[in-house]
Amino acid sequence: MYAFTLGLLLVTVPGVLSATYDVAVGAGGNLAFDPQYVTAYPGDVVNFVFHPKNHTATQSSFNQPCVPLAEGFNSGFIPVATENDSLPNYHFHVMDTNPVWVFCQQTGHCGKGMVFAVNPPADPSPNSLKAFQELAIATNGTGSSSSAAGTYTTPPAPEWQTATATVTGASGSVWTTTYTSYDGTPSPTPAAEPIDHKIIVGGDGKLEYSPANISAAIGDTVTFEFRPKNHTVTQSSFLNPCKALASTSTTGQVGFKSGL
Ligand SMILES: *[C@@H]1O[C@H](CO)[C@@H](O)[C@H](O)[C@H]1NC(C)=O
Ligand SMILES: *[C@@H]1O[C@H](CO)[C@@H](O)[C@H](O)[C@H]1NC(C)=O
Ligand SMILES: *[C@@H]1O[C@H](CO)[C@@H](O)[C@H](O)[C@H]1NC(C)=O
Ligand SMILES: *[C@@H]1O[C@H](CO)[C@@H](O)[C@H](O)[C@H]1NC(C)=O
Ligand SMILES: *[C@@H]1O[C@H](CO)[C@@H](O)[C@H](O)[C@H]1NC(C)=O
Repeated sequence: MYAFTLGLLLVTVPGVLSATYDVAVGAGGNLAFDPQYVTAYPGDVVNFVFHPKNHTATQSSFNQPCVPLAEGFNSGFIPVATENDSLPNYHFHVMDTNPVWVFCQQTGHCGKGMVFAVNPPADPSPNSLKAFQELAIATNGTGSSSSAAGTYTTPPAPEWQTATATVTGASGSVWTTTYTSYDGTPSPTPAAEPIDHKIIVGGDGKLEYSPANISAAIGDTVTFEFRPKNHTVTQSSFLNPCKALASTSTTGQVGFKSGL
């Protein structure tokens, strides 16, 4: 039996209650969301409040700011006649900490920069909210960069990297964690109460780890229990799943390996 300490991509933040963020859509007749972005955690709610005119809150991808995302959310058109105390609203429930890109689908609005984001990477990331809005304006709401007004080039997709961080826990214990990260990944968070996660390797002769994924915090332990046959548990990077981290890292990270 081998025990290892793992750093994980997604970490839960203990002790934080879910929050609701009000976002005004088209307040004051402006083609804008206000605030223009929110930083939110899983379980939080974004409450879009629609002001007069006829707007939407529609999810898009970063690369096509003015095109509805196939699996994304969409309030649909919400026409509002007068400013009053009971404006219509639409709720988006935050599921994870990944960036969520949003625009207004009314003709001409996205091309004028009417966009919004949940958890956008900060400047100077190529995937910042400013870059998203510039792309919406450059493509004039068409979703095609061929019609771009300027010479704007589409920023690259988020780049996955292997990061190493040192984290100090509540008890003063210090942990070094190596994990796959991208621009905007939240910082690793120490566990309030470290726990042990047990993983069965190759149970019932199956070629699998069970469970195959866990949510864990810095300071937790993962214990791998090996069943018959001849397996390993070896850390890799996200982009090279079948190679030991040491053989693909360009910055000297080693990662853990049980050996056969
Ligand atoms: C709202 O806008 C949509 C799309 O332009 C349009 O189909 C719809 O008729 C508009 N609704 C009102 C009440 O103006
Ligand atoms: C307030 O505006 C909404 C949306 O236009 C409308 O449905 C509602 O009747 C209005 N309420 C009052 C009191 O005017
Ligand atoms: C941008 O889009 C708007 C609305 O779709 C259109 O009226 C306008 O002609 C477009 N401008 C350019 C430069 O293509
Ligand atoms: C993680 O495991 C849970 C339960 O074992 C499963 O329901 C879920 O689909 C898994 N998630 C991923 C991303 O594989
Ligand atoms: C386990 O697998 C490795 C790699 O295939 C092999 O070198 C080793 O001999 C195996 N051990 C046993 C006991 O089968």
